[in-house]
Amino acid sequence: MKGIILAGGTGSRLYPLTLVASKQLQPVYDKPMVYYPLTTLIEGGIREFCLISTPHDLPRFQQLLGDGSRLGVSIDYREQTKPSGIAQAFLIAESFIAQDPVTLILGDNIFYGGDAFQRAFSEFHAGASIFAYHVQNPERYGVVEFDEHGWALSIQEKPLEPKSNFAVPGLYLYDREVVAVAKALKPSGRGELEITDLNMEYLKRGQLKVFRLNRGFTWLDAGTSTSLHDASAYVQTIEQ
Ligand code: DAU
Repeated sequence: MKGIILAGGTGSRLYPLTLVASKQLQPVYDKPMVYYPLTTLIEGGIREFCLISTPHDLPRFQQLLGDGSRLGVSIDYREQTKPSGIAQAFLIAESFIAQDPVTLILGDNIFYGGDAFQRAFSEFHAGASIFAYHVQNPERYGVVEFDEHGWALSIQEKPLEPKSNFAVPGLYLYDREVVAVAKALKPSGRGELEITDLNMEYLKRGQLKVFRLNRGFTWLDAGTSTSLHDASAYVQTIEQ
């Protein structure tokens, strides 16, 4: 399994901080944000990475992480010239993915605790696997409904009337079909290749598996000043 870290976007909700360093380079307590998703995938056993960011920010990531050898991993870098959607990552990283299964993690998603990922990684062999995390405000996220065996029944992006309280965090596992599926996607109303549309295609094929993240597992999406501050406070508490 290979790993893609998507760390582009404008970070407009964190202006003016993001005028000088991208969102995923901002400190979360004592480390740059990108360390957390990178660590999550390393814990999942991944050693080959592709980091995608803007032409402006990519050199900073290279300065920070180099070729990865210091961390015992390898890291390739690819540019996303415009933020045209999360699923575009599979088109940008096509030659990196080659014929292998791949995990995508969003560079501003921080996960803490539990072994749900390890299970999903070790059980993975085909199709797609996503995760479900119980939230009070599902309309802000991708929302999934699933049966008692963990098969997805529906998935919607930021629905006005969510069918469940389960948000889909920014960590996704796919088989090598993902590049072909991404190539067939059409841009959404907001002009993006949506990760939820890609997941929908796997759902139609009966291949979208959902792993529930239980209580005791923490998912933080550090995309706003408030959530960035909360994430720092949380990590500080855990570490101390
Ligand atoms: O955080 C989980 C949520 O992430 C999921 O529940 C949603 O289904 C998924 O669409 C996504 O929603 P967001 O509204 O958080 O997506 P956003 O556009 O903010 O992008 C998430 C991160 O990915 C952000 O750090 C910037 C980066 N990104 C995004 C796009 C669209 C890129 O690097 N390139 C892009 O083209």
